[in-house]
Amino acid sequence: MSENTLHGSVKWQSPSNIAIVKYWGKRPGMKQIPQNPSVSFTLGKCRTETAVFYEEADRFGLHFRFNGKENPEFQTKIAEFLKSHMADFPFLNEMDLQINSRNTFPHSSGIASSASSMSALVMCLLDIEREVKGNKEIDLKKASDLARLASGSACRSVFPKAALWGTTAAFDDSADEYAVSLEDTLHPVFKTYHDSILIVSDAKKAVSSRAGHALMETNPYANVRYEQARQHTATLLKVLKNGDLETFGRIAEAEAMQLHALMMCSDPSFILMKPNTLRIINTLYEFRQETDIPVCFTLDAGPNVHILYPDQHAELVERFIMDELERYCVDGNWIADQVGDGPSRC
Ligand code: PMV
Repeated sequence: MSENTLHGSVKWQSPSNIAIVKYWGKRPGMKQIPQNPSVSFTLGKCRTETAVFYEEADRFGLHFRFNGKENPEFQTKIAEFLKSHMADFPFLNEMDLQINSRNTFPHSSGIASSASSMSALVMCLLDIEREVKGNKEIDLKKASDLARLASGSACRSVFPKAALWGTTAAFDDSADEYAVSLEDTLHPVFKTYHDSILIVSDAKKAVSSRAGHALMETNPYANVRYEQARQHTATLLKVLKNGDLETFGRIAEAEAMQLHALMMCSDPSFILMKPNTLRIINTLYEFRQETDIPVCFTLDAGPNVHILYPDQHAELVERFIMDELERYCVDGNWIADQVGDGPSRC
């Protein structure tokens, strides 16, 4: 390598996020534009760490390793994404990239890693651009926009604590092309909110997000759903400010149930919950009734259950999880996660 050759390395970690109001359905014919706004908490522990070594070369080159091993599936996905953005990042045309990535959560936990992995990759890419161009800071709006194009929900992972993606009259700067931070409007109770992820199945997703979004195009309840999500977003934005935990729980659980109901009445239809998903939900209802603790659940597009609760009740809820719910998890596995601070260099 000559001394004048442009080269270096960047390393970022970026978290996964859990949607409280779900993104489920894209606008047809548009590039990853959601049918409705969505709101999420940024997680703390479930993260991807990505290191990129770059070096000036005759042409674009990519070598991708996941957990130290080559991974042709991810390599193809990343190569496609980077090639489709050569016009935005012309320096990539003459760059050889070595990418090493790892997740902090177990690969077989059934947790989708596209939000964390794609946002981590985008932060690395923009950091390289910053170095090449000599800019000072990374523009998070641009990072979110780019992450959206890689994987819709990834655009929300770029911000600390909580984010809103999609246009809504209830929030001034909201946009369909990128997410915006809700950190400054957040009631303190949500800044340390817990998300304990109960691993009911460690199998790969039965329906990919891409296929799931596409099924919404023919779902007979689609328009009612989009309207509900808009209303839930408007109410949730108020709740996130005023700390009304009862309404928070009602929205979170209604959103989880709707997401799964939509899949049950899609054509073809899918049941993504497992018997243990329902056992956990029913046991949680009983615990809430008995204790009056404002604990609620949400679900992603799979059988795992996310138990959401304020920090103030963490000890009791975690004892309850260990005593009553752990038995429904694969090998007793659950991840004690909490709202986190978003991407950072590592
Ligand atoms: O970002 P995608 O295309 O993987 O879709 C995410 C869909 C859900 O996880 C079910 C909901 C959401 O808003 O994160």
